[in-house]
Amino acid sequence: MSTTIDFNALVDAKNGRVTPVIYTDPAIYELELERVFGRCWLFLCHESQIPKAGDFFNTFMGEDPVVIVRQKDGTIKAFLNQCRHRSMRVSYADSGNTRAFTCPYHGWSYGTDGALIEVPLETRAYPHGLCKEKWGLQEVTRVASYKGLIFGNWDEGAPDLATYMGDMAWYLDGVLDRREGGTEIIGGVQKWEIECNWKFAAEQFASDQYHALFSHASAVQVLGAKPDDDADKKLGAGQTARPVWETAKDAIQYGEDGHGSGFFFTEQPDANVWVDGEVSQYFRDTYQEAEDRLGEVRALRLAGHNTLFPTMSWLNGTATLRVWHPKGANKVEVWAFCIADKDAPQDVKDAFERSATRAFGPAGFLEQDDSENWVEIQKILRGHRARNTPLCMEMGIGNEKRREDGIPGITNYIFSETAARGLYRRWADLLMSDNWDEVIERTEAFKAEVLQP
Ligand code: FES
Ligand SMILES: [Fe+2]
Repeated sequence: MSTTIDFNALVDAKNGRVTPVIYTDPAIYELELERVFGRCWLFLCHESQIPKAGDFFNTFMGEDPVVIVRQKDGTIKAFLNQCRHRSMRVSYADSGNTRAFTCPYHGWSYGTDGALIEVPLETRAYPHGLCKEKWGLQEVTRVASYKGLIFGNWDEGAPDLATYMGDMAWYLDGVLDRREGGTEIIGGVQKWEIECNWKFAAEQFASDQYHALFSHASAVQVLGAKPDDDADKKLGAGQTARPVWETAKDAIQYGEDGHGSGFFFTEQPDANVWVDGEVSQYFRDTYQEAEDRLGEVRALRLAGHNTLFPTMSWLNGTATLRVWHPKGANKVEVWAFCIADKDAPQDVKDAFERSATRAFGPAGFLEQDDSENWVEIQKILRGHRARNTPLCMEMGIGNEKRREDGIPGITNYIFSETAARGLYRRWADLLMSDNWDEVIERTEAFKAEVLQP
């Protein structure tokens, strides 16, 4: 698909302006499916969800259904979940174990390696023969894992996963690498739809700690421990009546290559007010191991927000990891996974799941605050005037820097929009570019611009 849309006019990251038609235009959405979701590394599932040969997990890459399958030799492949005969999905269960995927329409059957192995009435229906080797499931071009997380990419020319992640891997390790045993997904996947564009969610998790002070004010008031609370209130001993942004010393935001992260420098390993006491206690009990592996800053980083561009987000401490699956310009389907240390005791894993569901499940008290805002915005953008009126994205502009204390990447104060500007710039660069070499050239030019004294 070629385009005449002027993305430089819609996204002026240098001066902090975004025109909200990027959240509503169906033509832009179609181009996103091709040039963002068809080119970027996308989170598929966690290795713990498909431990044995024949285990599979169904997800989406953009709007394309994809099935991930553990092979007989232990490796992982992913396939477009589309029958080559008339395009039915060949796998319908969310996950499971199988020896073959049999299409429900006319019964073509594919092995777990994607090969077409069985065609009903083959000799009668295809008297001239059918070359089954040609009609296997389409394999996702590239599949790679990072510390248990499996990603897929359709683009042969994309940078490898580690290069694509860049400095974001350092931030991601704060969740994935706290303990020797790594992580696993606890329980199933919670899925729900929100009537808004996927970029509101991705951007907020990349960049927006600013909303929490106001949007979540009532939740924090209700949940924060009060000085006269009973001693048996199930909150961590390090928690205070005040939210972390008031008690923490300082905070940073990281934003580069479209990814974004932010966290507070805390003094105790249990600063989140919305996790169960068991979770807080667990963070204290395992603090030393985490510090030995990650250093003090990341071991203490328990109130962080993050997006790996474009659609994988997570919150440290709260154990929610989610994917924002686009379903049209005006709709997103959230898939929320609870991720926790594999070596944690079962009662702590249960507490992680409870905490994640209570705060960020479909009816979670923080989730609802967030999605209510996005849904209302999407409604306002039905107006012609509203969707063509530029938005202010100037927070902290010009204060970006690289630090010298080992915290990597382009950073700013947490209450800034460095990551948001970077996210939209990467997004626009993908839409404007014909290949990854061009994208990277544009990214490098933007980085130089951002860091100009
Ligand atoms: S569509 Fe799958 S067998 Fe016909
Ligand atoms: Fe929020």
